[in-house]
Formats: sequence, C-alpha cells, structure tokens
Amino acid sequence: MAKILIIDDTPEYISMLTSLLPEYEVFAAKDGKKGLQLAETVMPDLILLDINMPLMTGYEVCRRLKNIEHVRQIPIIFLTANDGSDFEEIGFKLGAVDYICKPFNAMVLKARVKTHVDLYRLQANLQQQVDKNTEEIRKLNYEITYISASIAEMKSKETGQHLRRVSEFCYLLCKFLGKDETECEHVKIASVLHDIGKVGIPDKILNKPEKLTEDEWKIMKTHSVLGYNMLVDSEFKVMQLAAQIALEHHERWDGLGYPHGTSGESISLVGRICAVADVFDSLLDKRVYKEPWSEIRVKEYFESMKGIQFDPHITAILLDNFDMFIHTWKSLLNAKRT
Ligand SMILES: [Fe+2]
Ligand SMILES: [Fe+2]
Repeated sequence: MAKILIIDDTPEYISMLTSLLPEYEVFAAKDGKKGLQLAETVMPDLILLDINMPLMTGYEVCRRLKNIEHVRQIPIIFLTANDGSDFEEIGFKLGAVDYICKPFNAMVLKARVKTHVDLYRLQANLQQQVDKNTEEIRKLNYEITYISASIAEMKSKETGQHLRRVSEFCYLLCKFLGKDETECEHVKIASVLHDIGKVGIPDKILNKPEKLTEDEWKIMKTHSVLGYNMLVDSEFKVMQLAAQIALEHHERWDGLGYPHGTSGESISLVGRICAVADVFDSLLDKRVYKEPWSEIRVKEYFESMKGIQFDPHITAILLDNFDMFIHTWKSLLNAKRT
C-alpha cells in the first residue's frame, strides 16, 4: 500500500483528505517540524503540504525536505487556499510537482495523487533496476578482466589467485591513500591485468625453475611493455590505467627497475601501488623458482626496501597495517571472486 504524508495545521482538512484517500496508508502532521520528522521515518510515496501554516510555512518545509538526501526525491504537492500565479511559481521553483487549491474537488485531488504516486513508484522501481543492472555489469566486467588476465597466469603455471589477491591489495592501499570508491574500484580491476604481457613470453622462460640466463631475463622483462601495448589503445579509462600499471609495476623507487628505470614520483601512483602489492603477494606465495617466504621475512624485506625499491609512503602503509594485510592474504587464499 502506498503511503501519503499530509502536513496541514487544520485538523478538518486532515480528516477530509484521509477519508478521500482510503486506498492509501495516510500519515499526518499538524506542523512543519513534526512533518519533517515523519517524512524521514515514514518515507512516504507522496507529501501533501499546506502552504499557510504558523511557525513554519509550507515553503520552508519544502525547502528543508529538498535538503535531506534520502527524502528529496519524494514528490510534494502543495495545498493552498491562495490563488494567483505567484504561489504556483514559488512552489514549482522549490521543487513541488503540483499544487491543489482548497477547497478540493475530490475527483481532481484523487486523480492527481494517483498520478504522482504511480510516477514516483515507477521511477523508484526503474532506479532499482538500473542499480541492479549496473552492479551486474560491474561484476561481469571484473570477471571478464580476470579471465583474460588468467590466460597469462595459466601459461606461467602460477596460482590463478595471485591476480585477484594483488588486485585486492591494490584496492586496500588505494583506500588507505584516501582515494574515493570509484577510483579504488578502477585500480582494483586494472591491476588484475598487470602481467597480461606474459602471454607473449615463451613458456620455457616463464616456467624455468633455474635462474634465467641474461638473454632469457631480457625477454622476460619485455612483459611489461608487451602488456602496455596490448592495453594502451583502449578507449576505456580503466584499461588505460591497466596499461600504466602493466608498464610500471616493475619500476623501482630508486630508478633501478624496468623497463625504463623511472624513479620516485615520476612513476605513476598506480604503478607504485601495484609494485608493492605484487611483490608482497609473490614473496608469500610459492613460485616455480622459490618456496614461500615467512611473514616475518616478508616484513623485514619491505622494511629494508622502503624508499629503495618501493615508495616509502605506500610501504609505510603496508608495514603499519601488516597484520591486516597478512590476514587478508590468508582469507583470500581460497575465496570466491566478488
Ligand atoms: Fe610482472
Ligand atoms: Fe604479478
């Protein structure tokens, strides 16, 4: 049953309106203050608001309602004994959807109430559907990105979960750096693709348990540029971010990384974030060329490489919250994708 809130200082009008609208659940307030409280608690589908009230006029109530985030969408119909275009104009300017003159014509009142309630409910349903579809697309987007990235990961026989964990750590580091949710989410998706360039590296190099020869290492290092070239021409911002991450995730703060030997803040922030997240996970993980490192050894490594291999600020965030990152790493070992 749709809900209607009447805000009117005349009890007779409240009774009359209530009896005219039996198909709705009706709530009523005799002054603006009470009306504002009820609007927030009841969340009606429509508000019938009297203009002429003592203490707080209907205009002021309307202005305040439009400033409250979760009630500002609720349609407001002004009730007025006043005549003249000024009243209509002010009401519409304040965001009302309609106005009805007192005394009411019962049929007109019922028709207008029904129209606005139906419209509001339709809009609310549409919004819900849009939100649901957007969430579906977001999940699908991540899933497809993850599957594409896994092709490179499978080739290198590393655990498929490495990509997902790195992306989660990038997301967390972004959060700690104070970035907004959209930006963090973009970095989360983009960082999944950091090693996509490995699809272009021969298997015998990717999976060689022994130390790589100088020539093999040269080829191995091309995966960052290969990944960058695969992604950079995309028209999507998130893929351009992924290209940046693919290119720079092996750059080092001291400029001794690859492919370009970029140093310090000349490396993009996302590149510096992924460098920390990638190494953190790789050290804890088992690889063809190494056994997993202990948590304490990983911590000591980051302490020794703060401001050398890694951005000192991002490293400090990891070290200050080390137990939380370790806990997250463990919880992600066999978790499902979200
Ligand atoms: Fe890499
Ligand atoms: Fe990686």
